[in-house]
Amino acid sequence: MTTETVHVDLGARSYDILIGPGLLDKAGEHIRAVGCQDRLIVVADAAVADIHWPRVSKSLKSSGFRADLIKIPQGESSKSFQTFSKLLDEALSLGIDRRTTIVALGGGVVGDLAGFAASVLLRGLNFVQIPTTLLAQVDSSVGGKTAINSAAGKNLVGAFHQPKLVLADLNALETLPKRELLAGYAEVLKYGLINRPTFFEWLNNNGAAALSGDLKLMATAVAECCRAKAEIVAADERESNQRALLNLGHTFGHAFEAEAGYDGGLLHGEAVAIGMAIAFQHSVRLGLTTNEVANQVADSLKAVGLPVIPELTGNRPIPSVDALLTRMKADKKSLDGKITLILARGIGEAFVSPDCEIKQIRATLSQALSV
Ligand code: NAD
Ligand code: GLY
Repeated sequence: MTTETVHVDLGARSYDILIGPGLLDKAGEHIRAVGCQDRLIVVADAAVADIHWPRVSKSLKSSGFRADLIKIPQGESSKSFQTFSKLLDEALSLGIDRRTTIVALGGGVVGDLAGFAASVLLRGLNFVQIPTTLLAQVDSSVGGKTAINSAAGKNLVGAFHQPKLVLADLNALETLPKRELLAGYAEVLKYGLINRPTFFEWLNNNGAAALSGDLKLMATAVAECCRAKAEIVAADERESNQRALLNLGHTFGHAFEAEAGYDGGLLHGEAVAIGMAIAFQHSVRLGLTTNEVANQVADSLKAVGLPVIPELTGNRPIPSVDALLTRMKADKKSLDGKITLILARGIGEAFVSPDCEIKQIRATLSQALSV
């Protein structure tokens, strides 16, 4: 199997995403090829470091890099001011200068945290993403959004900081827990639902096999997602409009995720699956699309085992509509207290809908929670 390259066209900030097997063992040569100098700080969570750091470290050494590893605790709770500040102190005490590159080895948590650190350390260092979850390979490692969470909500403190290179090693997915793989698949389906109806159909026919370990099919899926994201990011890097499409399902989903408490009871991708199903239900309520379309979306999610109703809320009770609405109003896309949603006229026909009526959203949420 060959390595596929997807280019993200952003002028001086352009970069390539390499997708293929065995890339962890060649990390050193690829990072060298984009001009990174000898000093690297690699950030990984404890689980990923245990499994994958030995191979990456070997490759970096053989390409002449001096790389130090900083381990952070596993899980969403690491996207905190506390872990962020500890990471900055540790990087500074290890010794860095303006030629140092920060490398994120892991899922979206590590990518968002290490990317934000790279954006502020010495006012901005080079950054490389080595995503090891499906979610990170198809979404979070591409496009330069970095962030940590605050008490007021998710991803509210961060920066746009594009990587120099993204290395998506498909073999890394082989050690990923099944539930995490599935959660990432919600973001894969998302691209079909936004503007790629043919891809949505392809996923309905091939998605389950890709999830079961067919690396060729997975390569096709990851590359298509990266092309879809690269296209949108190149058109609207700082989310003045079109990039918000990538948030399909996220305004509803983030509210469920926040109410579940970020403790692993409800994973980000699972929340996005629930959110996408509800976004289509809301589109039906507003007369934009049909029940048949919303059912097709729910069926695709359910077919692989993703949740479509808020059945996974960890140890917490199902959230109230009021609590969810409060969360939704705090979303980054909200303007003057009005909620912006990504809605759809059909599969592959998503659009940004600002100024959504709270009364209607309340009705959709009440219906979804009563299932
Ligand atoms: P994650 O980074 O927490 O990884 C999930 C779990 O999988 C972790 O426990 C990790 O230790 C483990 N893991 C990772 N790779 C592994 C591997 N190869 N083998 C075994 N275990 C492995 O979660 P995630 O789902 O990758 O990312 C979610 C985060 O991404 C959220 O914080 C979300 O806000 C963020 N996100 C950011 C963007 C963006 O554009 N920046 C986009 C989407 C999501
Ligand atoms: N995941 C949303 C974005 O990158 O814009």
